[in-house]
Formats: sequence, structure tokens, C-alpha cells
Amino acid sequence: MDAIVLLKDDHKTVEKLFKEFEKAGDGAHKKKRDIVDKIIEELTTHAYIEEEIFYPAAREGAPDTVDHILESVEEHHVVVWMLSELRGMDPEDERFVAKVTVLMENVRHHVEEEEEEWFPKVREAMGRNRLQELGERMEKAKAEAPADPLAVSSADK
Ligand SMILES: [Fe+2]
Ligand SMILES: [Fe+2]
Repeated sequence: MDAIVLLKDDHKTVEKLFKEFEKAGDGAHKKKRDIVDKIIEELTTHAYIEEEIFYPAAREGAPDTVDHILESVEEHHVVVWMLSELRGMDPEDERFVAKVTVLMENVRHHVEEEEEEWFPKVREAMGRNRLQELGERMEKAKAEAPADPLAVSSADK
């Protein structure tokens, strides 16, 4: 599995969950809680494999994109803290939907920048074999991802 294809697949999975959340009715608290639990799991795993494997490899293989990578880590930082807050939040809390909405805005912006501006440069700099090897490592690393969003390295600082 090509690393960029794998990451884009993850982005699609998350976008599907976002759409489900947006479609859930006002009173569907239990359903929204379940969807947010899945979002937390997907995004924590995704941030983990990007930060442990893909970002460091891209920093080495596509050094011209370092500014993008550093900004991405700061965006992850905000996202994992929001995920952590959502973890313990009552879905009936008046801040719950607002927090998920801002999370979705942040993630959509981040994904758009990764896919439109950054991935093409990484693909060009790193080539097919290297991306294939990284994809395999990331696929395996998913099993080691933490459940706690704050255990992802960008949570620090
Ligand atoms: Fe990312
Ligand atoms: Fe991503």
C-alpha cells in the first residue's frame, strides 16, 4: 500500500464520519456520542502514524517542505487536545456540537493542505518504492496507536 494512498483513505473515512455527524438530528445525543468516539479513534490513529512515520520520513526525503511539516504538527497539536476534551464530554453539553464543528473545520483545512499542497511534493521527492515501504510500516503501526489522543507526540509543548 502506497503511503499517500493510505493516508488519503484515512482522510475519506474521517470525512464520512463528519458527514454522519452533520446529518444526525438535534436530539440524537447517543448517536452523536458514538460517531465522535469513532472520530477520536480514527484521528488519533491517523495522527500517530503520520507523526511517528510519515512526517519524519518526509522531513528527510522532502526537506524543502519542512515549513509545511512544522505547521502540520501545530495543527495536530490543536486537534489532539480537542479530541481529548471531547472524550470526556457529555453530548448534551451545550459546547459539544460547537466543539465538534470547530474540530471538523480544523481537520478539513488540514486535510486540504496535506492533499492539495503537500502530498504532491512529497510524492515527487520520494518516489514509489520509498512510499510503498512507508505505507507498509504505517499499516502495521496502526495496531500500536494509543487510545489517548494526548499520547500522540504533538500533544506536548
Ligand atoms: Fe496530518
Ligand atoms: Fe493526514
